[in-house]
This record gives sequence, structure tokens and C-alpha cells, in this order.
Amino acid sequence: MDEIILQMKNITKKFPGVLALDEAQLEVKKGEVHILVGENGAGKSTLMKILAGAYTKDSGEIYFKGEKIETLSPKHAQELGISIIYQELNLIPYLTVAENIFLGREPVSERIPGQIDWKRLFDSAQEILNNLHVDIDARAIVKSLGIAKQQMVEVAKALSLNSDIIIMDEPTAALTRQEIENLFDIIRRVKQKGVSIIYISHRLEEFSEIGDRVTVMRDGKTIATLDIKDIKMDELIKLMVGRELKEKFPKIHLDIGKDIMRVANLRRGDVLKDISFSVREGEILGIAGLIGAGRTELARAIFGFDRIDRGDIYVDGKKVNIRKPWDAIKCGIGLVPEDRKGHGLVLTLSVRSNITLASLDGISQRQHINLKKEASIVKDYIKKLNIKTPGHEQKVASLSGGNQQKVVLAKWLLSKSRIFIFDEPTRGIDVGAKIEVYHLMNDLVKNGAGIILISSELPEILGMCDRILVMCRGEITAELKREDATQEKILYFATGGGKYVA
Ligand SMILES: Nc1ncnc2c1ncn2[C@@H]1O[C@H](COP(=O)(O)OP(=O)(O)OP(=O)(O)O)[C@@H](O)[C@H]1O
Ligand SMILES: [Mg+2]
Repeated sequence: MDEIILQMKNITKKFPGVLALDEAQLEVKKGEVHILVGENGAGKSTLMKILAGAYTKDSGEIYFKGEKIETLSPKHAQELGISIIYQELNLIPYLTVAENIFLGREPVSERIPGQIDWKRLFDSAQEILNNLHVDIDARAIVKSLGIAKQQMVEVAKALSLNSDIIIMDEPTAALTRQEIENLFDIIRRVKQKGVSIIYISHRLEEFSEIGDRVTVMRDGKTIATLDIKDIKMDELIKLMVGRELKEKFPKIHLDIGKDIMRVANLRRGDVLKDISFSVREGEILGIAGLIGAGRTELARAIFGFDRIDRGDIYVDGKKVNIRKPWDAIKCGIGLVPEDRKGHGLVLTLSVRSNITLASLDGISQRQHINLKKEASIVKDYIKKLNIKTPGHEQKVASLSGGNQQKVVLAKWLLSKSRIFIFDEPTRGIDVGAKIEVYHLMNDLVKNGAGIILISSELPEILGMCDRILVMCRGEITAELKREDATQEKILYFATGGGKYVA
């Protein structure tokens, strides 16, 4: 089945100060899963937004099912059979799931013209959801659903449109392993029906699982299109970043110092049951576990976001009283939250303001901000993290998804913390930038900081941590030394296989 359904030729798109697409090419076959990869800011989302009619191209040609398409609006694209699930989801939060799925094409009553047939609306939506094997009530309000379920609503919507091409922009970024499996099953099923999927992801291990071909983008250009089965991962990475990446995990080994923070018998309802552990100077302590194990809850509790029922926190051996985030910050604790869009960024402010936001307090004590110093610090971080932006005055909203995440990271790295809690810090970040983040972590521990690294990516936990705690259902079920830890062991304790006492 080699029928070409889509051709995008020489697509160019400029934004003020940025050449987002530079004669990009894309060719998609009927019924294939076509992976689109590239570093943060390479132009993946922009190319897809053009295909979906959300952005207009400056130049280039698009052929869909053999016909040249001149202009494209979102509605037109949808009618032609192109649907998209955006990186930043696009549902209307206060409407029901069913209304979102059928937005703008609600079934109308046969008896009363112009009236929505609510029963049919809910029934058809429920049928689509059931066919996807997802446990979602069509009558539920979208806002009440978690990210993973919202993602599934987007999938349901795309499927209900009977599209020929479904674009998925980083669909698995917030999904659990189980949910990912489920999504992949769905992808395989729709593929069988001849639907083509364009799939964007930074998770390289997924490509061979579902991909047929891959197109690599770099700096707005398409570098190559290859069959997945013919390509080695290392070669693919080299094409993406334009150089060889030596070490994926640049772990350094330091002499671990004394306890910098100790948590004793922390309890919060039944989400956190009697948690005790300590982090030491110069140490990266990993916390592994499945989603829902209580890792993010633990981070939030330590940081003062959520109230605890009982338990004590000691910093440098002294008991501290943390009731709100500000108390934690004063104790030298920094949290890079999992939900960066919600807690990490002010989208309408500049890159500079966002980076210095958490450190302004220290600066304004001296009555005015040292602008020169601020600019040089910001420049330094933009360079270190390779944040792709035309300048530091650019609004964060216009950066690519991954580059927005780097801005949040910079903000916390700049704050004067000594204890860092990183909750999924490399989610949505490209391979090259991940390594930069690890180097920055190394710099922090070299300077005596202690890091708690919460991550769902086991290779990252195994590659970067000195010691690993495993959580399951609100408890610490194992503490493993770096030398003793393996993926299998971690999974065993993460899934409730037992408790390990060293
Ligand atoms: N609306 C916009 N206004 C200004 N610049 C934009 C806009 N949208 C994208 N850009 C810029 O275009 C370039 C490509 O961005 P794009 O979002 O396509 O990257 P991406 O490959 O999807 O990256 P990521 O992996 O981080 O999601 C970036 O430099 C980005 O800052
Ligand atoms: Mg993107």
C-alpha cells in the first residue's frame, strides 16, 4: 500500500525574527504512521498547524488526495479529512465530553428543527468512547477530567470526524504506560482502516513500536525521511541534533555529604502514608513509581502546596515549619512542578521576566533591579539551555512547547535554592536538551545542593541518580543503591510486588 495521500512541498513560514519553516517537505502514505521528530523549535508543530489550517504558509504547495489545496482554514481542513490533536489540548473546559466531540456538528432533532438532539448527541459520543475502550462518561464536564482522559476525548473527536489523516502532536507526553498502550492499540486499529497518522514525539523508544516511517526536521528544514526498520537510533539522533551525542547520561560521582533535608513520618490522608527519607549534599535522589503512586503529592506536600496531617521536615538538622510555598522557598527548597503550563509560566510575559520571576524578590530588596546583571544572567541561561527564541523580550507564548519548558527550568535553576525537587523535568524536551538539563543538575550538586528527581523514565532515574526510592500507593516500598538498581527491580516494587528493607 504505497499510495501517497499527502504532499507538502517547499513550505516556508516566517514569524517576526524566526524562520520557522524553510522549504520543508513532507510526504505521507495512506495507512501509515508517519513520525515527525526534531529538536524543540525545529518547526514540527508549525508544519502541522499549516496542514490543519490554523496557520497560513508564506509559500509552498500542499497536495491532498491528488488535489492541490490553495487556501486552508481549520474548518476546510476538517471537511477535507484532516484532523489534529494539538500539543496544548484544545477542548472547551466547561462543556460536556459529548458536546466537545460534536462541536459545530451536533445532531439535530427530527421533530423540532434547529434543536439539538441531546439523546443522540450523548449516545453517539458514548458509543465512540466505548469503542475506544476508554472509561469516560460522555456527559462528564471536560474540566473534571484528568489530562490523559482529555487526550482521549481529543482522539475520540478526531476519529468521529472520519478523517483520512490524524495529526497527533506529542500525544503521550502526559500519559501513563497503560494509557499509552491503549492509545497505540487505537492507532493500530485506525491504521487498519487506511487512516494515516502523523505522530510527533520526543520519546524515541516509541518510534519502532508504532512508526512506519520517520521524517526528521532541523531548523525549519526537513532533513530526511526514512523507513523506521532501516534506521538505528543513534543515527536518528545524529540527524536530529546535527552532531554525535556521546553520553546520554553524564553522571558524575561526588562524595556525598551530610543530610541536607530530612522528612520524617509525613502523612497526608491516604495519598502519603508515613513517608521518611533524607537527601544529602551532592546527591541526586530518584523517586520512581507509577502515576498515582504519590510522587507529585509528596513534592507538593514538602513544598507547602498541600497541607499535611502530620510529619516533620528538617533542613540542615533543624526542624522547619512549611505551611505554604513561600516558607519552602525561604528554607532553600525549589520545586520545578510537573504541570508547567499551570504553575510554571506567565505566557503573556517575556522570556526574561519569566526566568527572573522567582528571583526578583532578592533583587528588589535592593530597591531596584540591576537590569544589566539581569540581562546577562538571562542571556547566560538562554545559551546554556539552548532556548530557541529571537531574543529575551520575546513573549513565552510564542515559543515552541519544549522551549517553554526550558524557560521554567531556567527560572528555578536561577533561584537561590539548595534543595531542588524536579518533577518530570525532561518531559517534552528533546534529546540534546535533556543532556543539558543533566549537566545543570550536575552543576547544582557540585555546588553542594541536593536534588530529588521524580521521573517516569526509568533510564533517566537509573542513569542520573545516586540512590533511588520507589513509591507505590503512597508508601516508599524500596530504597535502592545505584549499583543495585535495575528496571525490573524498580518495576517490581512500583507495582506493589513487595517491600524492600535494606
Ligand atoms: N505564533 C508564533 N509566533 C512567533 N513565533 C512562533 C510562533 N509559533 C512558533 N514560533 C516559532 O517557530 C519555531 C518553530 O516552533 P514549533 O512550535 O513549530 O517547534 P516544534 O518543533 O513543535 O518544537 P517542540 O518540540 O518544542 O514542540 C520556534 O522558534 C517558535 O518559537
Ligand atoms: Mg511542538
